[in-house]
Amino acid sequence: MGAAAVSERTLVLIKPDAVQRGLVGEIISRYERKGLAIVAMDQRTIDASQSDAHYAEHVDKPFYPGLREFITSGPLVALVLEGDQAIDVVRQMNGATDSRTAAPGTIRGDLSLSKSENLVHASDSPDSAKRELAIWFPHLG
Ligand code: TYD
Ligand code: MG
Repeated sequence: MGAAAVSERTLVLIKPDAVQRGLVGEIISRYERKGLAIVAMDQRTIDASQSDAHYAEHVDKPFYPGLREFITSGPLVALVLEGDQAIDVVRQMNGATDSRTAAPGTIRGDLSLSKSENLVHASDSPDSAKRELAIWFPHLG
């Protein structure tokens, strides 16, 4: 018997490195082929205060200044994806944070070689998804 179906929404960012490298279509295609539904999608360039809000858990960490510089450096694509266990499914598809050691078959493992410029963000728990969706797509409720 499989686990019960639980439809979830998760917040995904296709980061500025992916936009700059022309990988938006490749990345969205992977999510679509998996069977996830695109509920909302928007290309934006965010400022430092928006970065601080999104990455609230990281603002005091040593890597945060570099992360903020990177995430505000150009346009990114924000997505809301929906499907059965979407939060865990998308994290698995994205792969480990450090692209250098992310598994082959994952987005980071196949398409990036950087620990910091790692193509994608996804909510890591139901609480994170709720918080991040409210920041990025407040009108969805
Ligand atoms: P984190 O939330 O730990 O990773 P994930 O994106 O997999 O949820 O960190 C947020 C981002 O910060 C991460 O995608 C890349 C960057 N980062 C660094 O540049 N250096 C680091 O040591 C860590 C932990 C993260
Ligand atoms: Mg994270």
